[in-house]
Amino acid sequence: MWSDTGHNIKKCDSKSSYPSNATLESVLLPFIVLWTIVLLMAFDQVRTKTINSFAGPYIAIGHKFDTCPSDRTIEVLIRVSHFNPSRPYDLQTISGNLSLKEDMKDNYWSRVDLAVRSNNQWKENAFVLNFPRLGCSAIREHAPDFFRILAKHTGAPTDKATPCVIPSGVYVLKNESVSWTFPNFPVIPYGRYRFRVMSRSTSTSRTPVLCLEVECEAIPKP
Ligand SMILES: *[C@@H]1O[C@H](CO)[C@@H](O)[C@H](O)[C@H]1NC(C)=O
Ligand SMILES: *[C@@H]1O[C@H](CO)[C@@H](O)[C@H](O)[C@H]1NC(C)=O
Repeated sequence: MWSDTGHNIKKCDSKSSYPSNATLESVLLPFIVLWTIVLLMAFDQVRTKTINSFAGPYIAIGHKFDTCPSDRTIEVLIRVSHFNPSRPYDLQTISGNLSLKEDMKDNYWSRVDLAVRSNNQWKENAFVLNFPRLGCSAIREHAPDFFRILAKHTGAPTDKATPCVIPSGVYVLKNESVSWTFPNFPVIPYGRYRFRVMSRSTSTSRTPVLCLEVECEAIPKP
């Protein structure tokens, strides 16, 4: 149930349970578990609001990528083409620039704020998650088609047996068709979301190296 009193605003933090010599699997597992928790909580909220379908197989739509303040070590300036609701299986295309002043590995302390659209307004910080190591592998694991495009331009390895690195450089993406598929989440609550990802190179650094806001939506698969 969602209420304006904020009673069910949950905050999760995976930091404390993290081994310092984490393997890739142990890095990804809490990520997957936490997202599942987030989505189930969102699911619970949506269920109380909607009479019909509240979660299930979905088409994901990217609405907007925005930057937020960072030192711009990693900058993502991407525009997403308009989604056509009457042709929901047409892929959206992305264009823009990706600029990395350093190689992107799995070395970022990242904070993810998730806002959920409800009653025509954003519920800010509906969930706040902290990840000690987030970067290349998380994109490769969770958004493989988006990663395919990154790999095509940057030479990053798609083979999961190879350590994940997006090499530094400036890359220009032009009208790339992208399928927003997230294989680890075949079913999620329908709704409109906004993620803000803020990544720092150490736990104590103040200025993020990357700050990105993504507005997106999950609609029922027709
Ligand atoms: C990407 O970079 C090119 C060349 O520097 C520039 O002309 C273009 O406007 C940039 N596009 C975006 C979306 O920032
Ligand atoms: C972009 O790609 C789409 C799908 O591949 C195509 O229909 C469209 O004409 C392209 N637009 C431009 C400007 O190249």
